[in-house]
Amino acid sequence: MTQDLPPRRLAVAPMLDWTDRHYRYMARQITRHTWLYSEMVNAGAIIYGDQDRFLAFNDGEQPVALQLGGSEPADLAKAAKAAENYGYNEVNLNCGCPSPRVQKGAFGACLMNEVGLVADCLNAMQDAVQIPVTIKHRIGIDRQTEYQTLTDFVGTLREKTACKTYIVHARNAWLDGLSPKENRDVPPLKYDYVYRLKQDFPDLEILINGGITTNQQIAGHLKHVDGVMVGREAYHNPMIMRDWDRLFYNGSAAPIEYADLVQRLFAYSQAQIQAGRGTILRHIVRHTLGLMHGLNKARVWRRMLSDAALLKDNDGSLILEAWQEVERANSWE
Ligand SMILES: Cc1cc2nc3c(=O)[nH]c(=O)nc-3n(C[C@H](O)[C@H](O)[C@H](O)COP(=O)(O)O)c2cc1C
Repeated sequence: MTQDLPPRRLAVAPMLDWTDRHYRYMARQITRHTWLYSEMVNAGAIIYGDQDRFLAFNDGEQPVALQLGGSEPADLAKAAKAAENYGYNEVNLNCGCPSPRVQKGAFGACLMNEVGLVADCLNAMQDAVQIPVTIKHRIGIDRQTEYQTLTDFVGTLREKTACKTYIVHARNAWLDGLSPKENRDVPPLKYDYVYRLKQDFPDLEILINGGITTNQQIAGHLKHVDGVMVGREAYHNPMIMRDWDRLFYNGSAAPIEYADLVQRLFAYSQAQIQAGRGTILRHIVRHTLGLMHGLNKARVWRRMLSDAALLKDNDGSLILEAWQEVERANSWE
């Protein structure tokens, strides 16, 4: 089955609280081939918690990767195995998250200072599963500004592990004094470091991430690296993904129509709510607020689908009602 998977040319970034299975359902309707990454899940939560809650995903969601947080090789190995059993196509280790909560647990970006431990983690994970084990990291932490820091980190892992796929958020993580949000905007982007990494290690699969918001930018990056990972733009403006199969995977299918997507989201919402596993309408529609980005009445769509009074009936028809407002206000070819 693995050989049928598309290459990681495009990917939606792991985003805590955002790329849950409901968001990923929607993304998968819009693009067939793009890799989707889960929110980061703590390895311990999978081992000791409710696995279904953390690992269940929808049919048709693949290719999908589970991102793990942790720094205990044995725990990561167990969590990776559980992910494989659930049908994930990849397990990714988070070495880029700067949150203080994560630092306390000694994982995330601060692992970039402990490459030996990262190698142990990746090896333990890869020994436990057949699916690829990959890593997402920064170009450095704190004031390390030399390219050498990055190339040492990746070079060591290349030597000591079987990891072939490196997803590089092209800015440093500043572990002191910046919030996680600021850490996604303030440290300068250095795309050239990531391009150089690909030149220095042509045998590795290198994906670039950070601040990428247009298809033109994506096409530009793909001249230098194997793949592009997009985070916030794919969340706030999901329809950017509409052209990805055609532009970046030689796909021949026409992009999905808004009306079709709305009908699918309606049917999905009704089915999820009726399944009675605690899903309410808000859990799903909160991820759709950016869907009408750029269209007339996008604001009405957003307002209706975030209105607590309208959401409380828990009836997916609200999606159709909001859509009627948008549909009427736009001219469609
Ligand atoms: C709300 C939010 C949550 C995030 N959670 C994670 C996470 O769980 N794991 C991770 O590796 N990166 C996380 N990130 C970082 C993104 O994966 C990505 O590296 C970053 O947003 C830069 O890409 P972008 O400019 O395309 O958004 C998160 C970003 C956002 C906005």
